[in-house]
Amino acid sequence: MKKNANPKSSTDKFSTKLGAVAAAAGSAVGLGNVWRFPYIVGEDGGAVFLILYVIFTIAISIPIMMTEFAIGRKSGLPVTSAYRSLAPHSKWGVIGVLGVLTAFLISSYYNIVSGWTLYYAVSSMGGWLSGLSEVAVADYFSSLSADPFRCIIWMMLMLGATAAVVAQGVQGGIEKYSKILMPLLFLLIVVMVVRALFLPNGLDGISFFLKPDFSKLTTKTVFDALGQSFFSMSIGMGTMTTYGSYLRKSENIATTASHVAVVDFMVAFLSGAVIFPCVFAFGVNPSQGPGLVFVTLPNIFNQMPMGQLFASFFFLLLVVAAITSSVSLLEVVVAYLKESFKYGRRKATLVASLLCLFFGILCSLSQTIFSVFDNITANVLMPIGAFLIVLFAVHRLPKDEFRAEFEAHGVSFRLFNAFYFLVKYAVPIVILIIFANGILALLGISY
Ligand code: TRP
Repeated sequence: MKKNANPKSSTDKFSTKLGAVAAAAGSAVGLGNVWRFPYIVGEDGGAVFLILYVIFTIAISIPIMMTEFAIGRKSGLPVTSAYRSLAPHSKWGVIGVLGVLTAFLISSYYNIVSGWTLYYAVSSMGGWLSGLSEVAVADYFSSLSADPFRCIIWMMLMLGATAAVVAQGVQGGIEKYSKILMPLLFLLIVVMVVRALFLPNGLDGISFFLKPDFSKLTTKTVFDALGQSFFSMSIGMGTMTTYGSYLRKSENIATTASHVAVVDFMVAFLSGAVIFPCVFAFGVNPSQGPGLVFVTLPNIFNQMPMGQLFASFFFLLLVVAAITSSVSLLEVVVAYLKESFKYGRRKATLVASLLCLFFGILCSLSQTIFSVFDNITANVLMPIGAFLIVLFAVHRLPKDEFRAEFEAHGVSFRLFNAFYFLVKYAVPIVILIIFANGILALLGISY
């Protein structure tokens, strides 16, 4: 068995338990945790969102991730062909196509945020953020986000780095580094939490984050919580199906998915525990949207000993987290182009990156396009994808075959019946209700 986690060939398998968890967590942990989670929590009023997020992650997202792992491992194929091969001559292949479209749309705006992160890493190393007042920190971000030229340049650097990795098919290589670097990012965030708790008014931030105010519960909160949970866990678009095809038969799918969820949740939770104390200490508006991380964190670094060093490390590690996610996003599109158009890896990467560049430019010119892509992928496309995936699992796969996938090699899964009930009834019904309500709310129709 090869000792790497290179997702190039479907015969490669993760050789250790940690390898499987680390690779799937590398895709899951990204800007979704540190950038998207806090800004959505801030927009949706804090702790109520958090409670829903936890419930959805446990009852809906983990079962979906397990289903994706099982389908991927059973077919031994990446998402673009897994569904088609398990159900030939049917329309289920649409799950793969939908996944490619979702991955493509996410890549188009994700690299802009990665570009901002890189810009903040460089700014921290240059000391340009050191000693700035709170107002100046806010201006620093607004001048960047309002300047498409700079956004595009920094986005191109990140897209270029992502494309270089994908073109050479060396994803396994970065996963090796990220196994060391991601725990470091985690540690750094823990240190920042401790500092944040001692900020003046810091505890007000913690109570915003942890003490529910049920008057803030709206349809949008529920809709956003489900979408954020899917986005953060990278589910509903087939990425985890592809990862499932690298899982060994002796691996326990249920525990692997649970571990990934715990790691992913911890990173998001701790990011919130840093950002909300900062929001209250530095008088930032919690519902100000996608700039939230960038206008709060530089302030706390300015109040830490060796803050410049901390800031540089933090943003650099976040760049690494962003790259591992953006590589696995671009890979979905590249795999599709290779398969459908018989392109070579390099040509497929070039075409995919140029398309992402074009749509990325649109996103950096228009905040509306940016947020439409952001909302549509997480709140619309991923729930549709997840819905189809669970439908596929219960209607297309015989129950005993599905079960056998969880219990391969003597692994026992006593809760299978409870899990199957969730996947067959609870998950699709809940998705459908939240989705329908959310779409009506999005269209401004209330009843
Ligand atoms: N989960 C990633 C994050 O939190 C973003 C993401 C969504 C993703 N779907 C994906 C990453 C598919 C890789 C593959 O940042």
